[in-house]
Amino acid sequence: MIRAATIHDVPRIQQIINSHAELGRMLFKSLAQLYEDLRDFAVYEEDGQILGCVGLTIIWADLAEVRSLAVDSAYQGRGIGKQLVEWTVSEARRLSIRKIMSLTYEQRFFEKLGFEVVPKESLPLKVWSDCVRCPKRDGCDEIAMVRTLHDVPVPDGVPVAPPTPRGVSIPVLGQVED
Ligand SMILES: CC(C)(COP(=O)(O)OP(=O)(O)OC[C@H]1O[C@@H](n2cnc3c(N)ncnc32)[C@H](O)[C@@H]1OP(=O)(O)O)[C@@H](O)C(=O)NCCC(=O)NCCS
Repeated sequence: MIRAATIHDVPRIQQIINSHAELGRMLFKSLAQLYEDLRDFAVYEEDGQILGCVGLTIIWADLAEVRSLAVDSAYQGRGIGKQLVEWTVSEARRLSIRKIMSLTYEQRFFEKLGFEVVPKESLPLKVWSDCVRCPKRDGCDEIAMVRTLHDVPVPDGVPVAPPTPRGVSIPVLGQVED
């Protein structure tokens, strides 16, 4: 079952995330970061054991980001990751947020779930706030992917998110030609 995370889940969430971070598949998370962001998180629980987690962070009125998606490596390939992403989709719908994005190495997995590759530059500036903490910030090889929920209406009268500026040095975007 998937449910909202509680304070009691945090050590296990950290263990799952950091086991993948040690292999370079995702960013390490400190306990402080997890406590601060806990309201964004859901966990997959089976027989009282947490087997996976995911966060959905609101970026703008029309965009939320799937973060910290991780399944215990002993339980991968059983549909848990898919269910966790579908939780983020239902959460975005509940919030009336039309687009969900991910920065990932798992292109095939996200394609199966309706995400499409987009240029990193098409995402708003705010997306890159975590990059300062990333060891790969000077050679980012993550793929930007977006899924649009076509049944969620385009929000009215919302200012456009500040874009990622062209020609400004943001390490993850590499050299931008003018
Ligand atoms: C990526 C991850 C979350 C997938 O979770 P999972 O529970 O193993 O995936 P699922 O079993 O739900 O797979 C759903 C579908 O995607 C496919 N899939 C899963 N991982 C895949 C991969 N690496 N490449 C291609 N397809 C993949 C499955 O075969 C399945 O296809 P099907 O619906 O046709 O049967 C998990 O492997 C993981 O925790 N990886 C390490 C951390 C990570 O990379 N997180 C993503 C950060 S954005």
